[in-house]
Amino acid sequence: MTSKEIRIVYNEYESLDQLDPRDRELAQAAIEATKSSYAPYSHFNVGAAVRLDNGEIIKGSNQENAAYPSGICAERTAMFYASANYPENAMTAIAITASQNGILCETPATPCGACRQVMAEYQSKGKHPMEILLIGGKKIWKFGKVDDMLPLIFDSI
Ligand code: THU
Repeated sequence: MTSKEIRIVYNEYESLDQLDPRDRELAQAAIEATKSSYAPYSHFNVGAAVRLDNGEIIKGSNQENAAYPSGICAERTAMFYASANYPENAMTAIAITASQNGILCETPATPCGACRQVMAEYQSKGKHPMEILLIGGKKIWKFGKVDDMLPLIFDSI
């Protein structure tokens, strides 16, 4: 028997000012995206912004439904739009944030398992690491690739 260890490294920032300008722009787009969130059931407004390899930014927000499972997360709204409309472009980064009552959540909102799996798919499709920026009001976390949020990714079909 051998014990194995998986190590994840990520960077923590205290504010948007500490990010490089491109990351700050992406984070601000995610914050902006929370405004289009349709969340009448959870009142949890999530925004996501995807950076494409052509520099463009695609925004998405969570869209809820009275039949709860028919709703979708902000990250998947943004990534599905990006892949449907820019199928040739790799997604090089995604920023995610959440607010409640118009106030940014202090701690970064971490993506659900389904969204991580979808990130893994598009990282693989794009053949480019997808950086992940989780934007909280007090802390910002930056991961270099999806593997750091989803160890032992399933992508071997
Ligand atoms: N939500 C997201 O948009 N992204 C996630 O990664 C987790 C959860 C949304 C789904 C639902 O509209 C609300 O947050 C509460 O779960």
